[in-house]
Amino acid sequence: MANNITSVSKESRRFTPSDEFRKQARIKSREEYEALYQRSINDPAAFWLDEAREIPWSKEPKKGLDWKEPHAKWYEGGELNASVACLDRWKGTPTWHKAAIVWEGEPFYQTGEPEVQTLTYAQLHAKVVKLAAKLRRLGIAQGDRVAIYMGMVPEVVVAMLACARIGAPHTVVFGGFAADALRDRINDCGAKALITQDIGYRRGNEVKLFDAAHAAAAQCPSLRTILVHTRKLENLHLDDDAFATKFAVTEGSQEVERMIARTDLVPKDEAATPVDAEHPLFVLYTSGSTGKPKGVLHTTAGYLMGAYVSTKYVFDLRDDDLYFCTADVGWVTGHSYIVYGPLSNGATALMFEGAPNWPQPDRLWDIIDRHNATILYTAPTAIRAFIRTGEEWPAKHDLSSLRLLGTVGEPINPEAWLWYHRVIGGGRCPIVDTWWQTETGSIAITTLPGAVDAKPGSAGLPFFGIVPKVVDQEGKEVARNAGGKLILANPWPSMLRTVWGDDARYAAQYWSDVPHVYTTGDGARQDEDGYFWVVGRIDDVLNVAGHRIGTAEIESALVSHPFVAEAAAVGRPDELKGQALVVFVTLKTGAAATDETRAKLLEHVAKEIGKFARPDGLRFAAALPKTRSGKIMRRLLKDLAAGVESKGDTSTLEDLNVLAQLRGAEE
Ligand code: WTA
Repeated sequence: MANNITSVSKESRRFTPSDEFRKQARIKSREEYEALYQRSINDPAAFWLDEAREIPWSKEPKKGLDWKEPHAKWYEGGELNASVACLDRWKGTPTWHKAAIVWEGEPFYQTGEPEVQTLTYAQLHAKVVKLAAKLRRLGIAQGDRVAIYMGMVPEVVVAMLACARIGAPHTVVFGGFAADALRDRINDCGAKALITQDIGYRRGNEVKLFDAAHAAAAQCPSLRTILVHTRKLENLHLDDDAFATKFAVTEGSQEVERMIARTDLVPKDEAATPVDAEHPLFVLYTSGSTGKPKGVLHTTAGYLMGAYVSTKYVFDLRDDDLYFCTADVGWVTGHSYIVYGPLSNGATALMFEGAPNWPQPDRLWDIIDRHNATILYTAPTAIRAFIRTGEEWPAKHDLSSLRLLGTVGEPINPEAWLWYHRVIGGGRCPIVDTWWQTETGSIAITTLPGAVDAKPGSAGLPFFGIVPKVVDQEGKEVARNAGGKLILANPWPSMLRTVWGDDARYAAQYWSDVPHVYTTGDGARQDEDGYFWVVGRIDDVLNVAGHRIGTAEIESALVSHPFVAEAAAVGRPDELKGQALVVFVTLKTGAAATDETRAKLLEHVAKEIGKFARPDGLRFAAALPKTRSGKIMRRLLKDLAAGVESKGDTSTLEDLNVLAQLRGAEE
């Protein structure tokens, strides 16, 4: 059986940054990038100690890396506090009175205006200091875990930084999760406090966060306190009783009463706790579509440096940028590129509470237009959704303030890239593709915007300190343009340190598949220019009649057809071929789900990739099953295609109805 992953993308277009962009960029050419990159690889300790001088330490680190596979320690001997590195450091500089966060709520006032709040660095600092003092008062000490279950409000940033300030690792649980998922995460890391809010707003509905938190808390014996932030104006003057001042937890056979308090009672200022460089900063459960969620542990200095340095170079921040990342703070992208990266750079982050297409498909464009956002960082799945609703929506708005676009989360199909470039970027904005993972903590492969050409669909070149390679099963590097497993050969500062409470799983999952390197779980190829093309997860790689092929490439071929909005490819056991290829397709408005269309699309794939890749079955779908972070749940589609009942976990599925609808579809 062929052991190679066949990579068939034939995209050859290149986009060079304009001279205008290049001139003001931090890194202005591939040569400049190569020089800095080589330095970061040849002497990582010197490179990362140099960069570390740009953030404040209470005790300077002496050493770069201490590596005992699979455990890394970075910046040993150093002491710092992440909230000080994001906030206090700006005291006495012009940044102190600059906006740290510009926030827009989802609902509109009766006047038709949305709710907008601006917090300067000074104001954000004041809120963080108070909440930190309050947490201390409630008995939360350094090392205690604090769960955060909130929506996209500025107070979620306050909560994270307040935890960091007292050295209490936070675990942010995405507000779209249900009570059971919240409970499992709280219990897995033994959180002592939970910070939540009364309600959030999403697509015009109230999301009852407090009710879910309260339900979860009853089954979380480690929990001592729930802190509630008041989002709803009408609740503002209610006292603690309104949220039920106590909740009961069963400990052994005993019911024990616990406290509920509001976040807004005001104690006095207190200093931040300096922590060791390797002190845990947060645990984040991965949104992976298989198995029990893993608590990925990130520690303070290394993670912060990864977020700081990557934000600085990849988004090429300027003082007057208004940087808009559409991710939810419940995912790693929100951690690194709304909170820790932008704030440690003194940037202004635009934050939006709601759904990008509510109440109309142009909400995002409206926000960019009104606030004059200069950088937009979003996901391919969102871009494809915008393509589906049509160009007339962005066309209603002036998007000329944008100067840089970014994408993250999955391989972007070249058609979506080109649309993003032309329609949103007006043909003028470079697009940074950014490959990374919850585990890598920060961007690991990217197209640095002023330095290198972009190739639509390619994640680009290694970021500083990262040594990606494409290898075969034995760990041998494969030839250029051949497919294989994507691994990272060297430790880097923002790498995960372990899986919370399960170091054996950490070693097995990441450091055993190929000896002595970090396994990403992705398949990729590296082209003749050194660019990496990620084809998707290895478990999404199919073997059809001896050809291994990434589902992402089949999907990309389908999406390049003018009828197709979104596609997912999965394997079905097949006696003859090993695996048969089945695709699920969502059509654009106006295209008809007929046999004729089906035949056309099958032919299209055969033409784009080759006859071997012609799908064996094609089902039309009104929507595809996705996790709440927007990843297609191929596992469920696989079961559907094979005609078996799904046994796995569906708790991360955004909309259960989608599955019911798909069951009835013909091939
Ligand atoms: C995929 C999100 C191709 C990849 C930051 C990775 C990508 C997984 C890209 C991590 C990209 C992320 N191009 N694939 N630019 N970015 N991925 O942990 O499969 O939610 O392993 O982190 O997303 O997803 P996670």
